[in-house]
Amino acid sequence: MPDLVIRPAVQDDLGVLWDVLAMAAYEPDAEAAKAVPPVAKYLVGWQRPGDFGFIAEQNGEIIGAAWARRFSAEELRVPYGDEETPKVSIGVKPNARGQGVGEKLMCALIGEAVRRGLGLNLSVRSENPARRLYERLGFRDIPGSAVTNRAGGMSIGMALRERAGPLARRGAPAVCPLVISRLSQCRKS
Ligand SMILES: CC(C)(COP(=O)(O)OP(=O)(O)OC[C@H]1O[C@@H](n2cnc3c(N)ncnc32)[C@H](O)[C@@H]1OP(=O)(O)O)[C@@H](O)C(=O)NCCC(=O)NCCS
Repeated sequence: MPDLVIRPAVQDDLGVLWDVLAMAAYEPDAEAAKAVPPVAKYLVGWQRPGDFGFIAEQNGEIIGAAWARRFSAEELRVPYGDEETPKVSIGVKPNARGQGVGEKLMCALIGEAVRRGLGLNLSVRSENPARRLYERLGFRDIPGSAVTNRAGGMSIGMALRERAGPLARRGAPAVCPLVISRLSQCRKS
């Protein structure tokens, strides 16, 4: 996609992050997302210590975002995950989907997690085609993680299969060039 810029998300991006969260959580708009506590918890208080994310912009227009947040055991409320491993939220505007924006956002997020020495988890509806994207990037289903979601279907937990070093050595860079550049930045600093 021409003129695509991926940049870190900052405090002032909160408004657009609510729009993206609504997309990711199948809510009609930001106000609806704010009104559902299990959805809103992914953004309330942004940017908490430990929150990190990325924004996709094309010609100055924000077309997608991905971010990661850690939760306390009480906040997690699913049969997987831990307080150390952030959970991912991601969404791309409908007219920009299927052109690699989501993959670039995820690569940036993985790169930052790698830099911080963290894993990543996410929750995805079982019928969501995004599962293929996550699998390509190294996420795997977490056994025993399936739960009934708010819509009455099933959601599954996925975890980045390995952390920094092994992930980088085992072919993820072929999919994720940003991971390589992030890692080389780490090595330089
Ligand atoms: C999931 C999402 C962020 C992916 O972003 P994207 O820019 O479309 O992704 P890319 O172009 O980099 O990769 C395409 C992959 O995304 C997935 N995908 C999910 N929904 C898609 C859609 N509507 N159109 C195209 N691809 C979609 C597929 O896995 C696809 O890979 P495949 O062609 O091998 O099946 C985006 O489609 C989206 O915002 N979907 C709605 C919100 C959502 O489901 N968020 C995730 C909740 S866990």
